[in-house]
Amino acid sequence: MKVLIACYSYGGNTLKVAEELKKNLDGDLTKIEPVKDRFYLLKGWGALREQRAAIKPCTTDMSDYDALVVCCPVWAGKSPAGLNQYLDELQNVEGKKLGAFVTMGGNGNQKATIQIREALAERGMEFLGQMKISGKDLKSGNYNEMVETFAKKFQDA
Ligand SMILES: Cc1cc2nc3c(=O)[nH]c(=O)nc-3n(C[C@H](O)[C@H](O)[C@H](O)COP(=O)(O)O)c2cc1C
Repeated sequence: MKVLIACYSYGGNTLKVAEELKKNLDGDLTKIEPVKDRFYLLKGWGALREQRAAIKPCTTDMSDYDALVVCCPVWAGKSPAGLNQYLDELQNVEGKKLGAFVTMGGNGNQKATIQIREALAERGMEFLGQMKISGKDLKSGNYNEMVETFAKKFQDA
């Protein structure tokens, strides 16, 4: 199964986990980057209001892939505006498998994985699973097992 890992990462935490995941899967990694950086409060506000923000060109066409893993940091409990834009720009997703993971500073409730799942289930993707890496997990570097378990869902599908 060929997997596209689409990663939004501002500070590098999510990218680190995405790179670990890539070691466990046959696939490619594409980076989702906003055209413009926003101030901290505007990042949070944009996420909270489920806004969109322009992104640089990256892989959005799923034709060559069987599955997609979308990953991002949690901002104000939700997904970054640039990530929302990426979901809108995705093409040829129908019938493909989907996974999502987030990294976050805390370990509380978050809506980002739900947003990803709902937006893409509506477009015919089949959700295989999700993962949340907390600030504590990131600090201890103790997430390899979680990543392996998550990857297995795609290896077995
Ligand atoms: C604008 C902004 C809002 C954030 N909001 C939350 C939040 O609501 N809950 C949380 O646990 N962490 C929050 N964080 C922390 C990030 O989710 C966390 O540090 C994440 O691992 C960063 O990933 P990255 O390095 O890939 O950008 C926020 C960080 C930023 C910059």
